[in-house]
This record gives sequence, C-alpha cells and structure tokens, in this order.
Amino acid sequence: MASETEENKLVRNENESSELCSEPLFQRKEHELRILTSEEAEKLQNDTDFVSEFKQLKLEREAQKNWDLFYKRNSTNFFKDRHWTTREFEELKACREFEQQRLFILEAGCGVGNCLFPLLEEDPSLFVYACDFSPRAVDFVKKNPSYCAETCKAFQCDLTKDDLTDNIPANSVDVSTLIFVLSAVHPDRMHLVLQNICKVLKPGGCVLFRDYGLYDHAMLRFKSGSKLGENFYVRQDGTRSYFFTKDYLRCLFEKAGFEEVSNEYVLRETVNKKESLCVPRVFIQSKFCKPQKKC
Ligand SMILES: C[S@@+](CC[C@H](N)C(=O)[O-])C[C@H]1O[C@@H](n2cnc3c(N)ncnc32)[C@H](O)[C@@H]1O
Repeated sequence: MASETEENKLVRNENESSELCSEPLFQRKEHELRILTSEEAEKLQNDTDFVSEFKQLKLEREAQKNWDLFYKRNSTNFFKDRHWTTREFEELKACREFEQQRLFILEAGCGVGNCLFPLLEEDPSLFVYACDFSPRAVDFVKKNPSYCAETCKAFQCDLTKDDLTDNIPANSVDVSTLIFVLSAVHPDRMHLVLQNICKVLKPGGCVLFRDYGLYDHAMLRFKSGSKLGENFYVRQDGTRSYFFTKDYLRCLFEKAGFEEVSNEYVLRETVNKKESLCVPRVFIQSKFCKPQKKC
C-alpha cells in the first residue's frame, strides 16, 4: 500500500473512531468562521502559486480515475464507519409521517458504504440507493456482507453528468446524504450535482450535508503549489478538496432550488497524542429541503 500522505491522514482523522486520532477536546456548532492566527492568515495570503491550467484540466479529466486509484490503494480501510450520521441527523427518523413508513435514502458519493451500512444496521426498514463514480468503490459496497438487494441498490454514476433518474424514480427519495463529496467536485460543476439530486427527491425531501469548512486544519496544511482556485486544493494523490463557507453553500443550494433549514460550522479540536499537537478542525453541517412545489 502506498504511504499515507499528511493530507490523507487528516481526512482519515476526520472520523472520530480513527486510531490515528485521539479524543476530540470539544465539538461545538458555530455561526461564525474560525478566526485564524496571524501566522495562519499570512500563510494563506502568501499562497499565490496556482496549479497550471494544463494540469488543472488534466485533474478534471482524471478525477474519476484518481478516486478509483484511491480505492485501489486503500480498499475499504481508509474511512471508518460514520456512525455519527444517525446520531447527528435525527431527521432521518423524524421525517417519517407514520411509524411503519419505509424511507428511501440516497447516499450520493457513497465511497465504500461507511455511511450506508451503519444506517441500515440501525434501521433495516430503510431502502438505500448508493452511488459513486469510482467503480471500485461501488464494487466494495456490493461485496459487503450486509449488502442485500432488498434494502440496497448500488450503482456507478458521475453525479455531475449521469442522470440519477436512470436508476432512481423521480420524486421518490425522502433524504439524500452528501457527505464529504461536494468538496471533491470542481466548484464550476457543483450545481450540477445538486440539480441532479433535486430531481429524485420528493417535494419536501431534504439533503443532509457534511463537508470541510473554510480554515479547517487540512486547508492550512497544503503546501505551496497545491492551490487550484479560491479555497480549492489538490492532494498528492490527485483528489481535490474545496473548503466551504456557509454563504457559498447556501447560495449553491438556493440556486439549485433548495431552501435552507440549517447551516452551521462544526468546530472541533482534536489532540494528536503522538505528536502532542492540538488540531482545529472545521466542518460544515447543513440541511436543505426541496420545496413542496418543485425545484
Ligand atoms: C471523501 S470520499 C467520501 C465518501 C463517503 N461519502 C464517506 O463519507 O465515507 C468522496 C467520494 O466522492 C466520490 N465522488 C467524487 N466526485 C464524484 C462525482 N462527480 N460523482 C460521484 N461521486 C463522486 C469519490 O469517488 C469518493 O468516493
């Protein structure tokens, strides 16, 4: 297996159960952005060395290949199960109109299913559609012992290009999760992902979103020469990451026809015992609904 890059360790550390990450010191929801130290602000300001247009076009063309290679290198070992999804997103249960109602969930950009399998474990009456544009990731999902055609349908799909209605009936999904996926998409194409999801959501259905927030420690760790654009960076393995502000995210969703329900920064501080480092993490956690009329 290729050695893990520093940025990748941070992605991995996002997950509280990772063995590389020691206990979080705190977690709190915030309206405002994290305040940078003067050193951090200076570092970001001085980083004006953008990746060439030629290389940027290549990264866009090879985005799918780079994620597929990521799963070839890491198989199912990289991200840990995201058990916090049900804990953090109580809405999954709350949106049932009656107790026996079967909820239809879409996990957009499912990876190897770290979110979907814990969800199904907690509530086997769900039906989960799961898609990703890495064929390897989708294969891992299908080979998971908990995968079963009665509760799950996994398929390969580029959310910026392939119409989700090819696999999911229009207006049929109660809740879509979008977890650390939109950050991997070029900012010029993010709206296409949201429009695509909107088509399969029921009127009143919602997107539960979690991703990197502006000034997350991972953003400050990028070396000069990794910058693709405003708040957009490339990792050593060719995968890309955008760091969101609440306003930017609200604008994106509203332009795609959604209404904001909640939209907050989640600030966490974790201590890396091995390196005696206190690491400030910034995530953004939000909920946007498709209006009762239509997008
Ligand atoms: C950081 S991983 C997160 C995976 C999963 N959501 C999780 O939380 O464990 C980002 C995922 O987004 C997928 N992805 C990136 N761009 C995509 C696109 N245009 N269409 C579909 N999936 C995409 C990648 O293949 C990768 O599996």
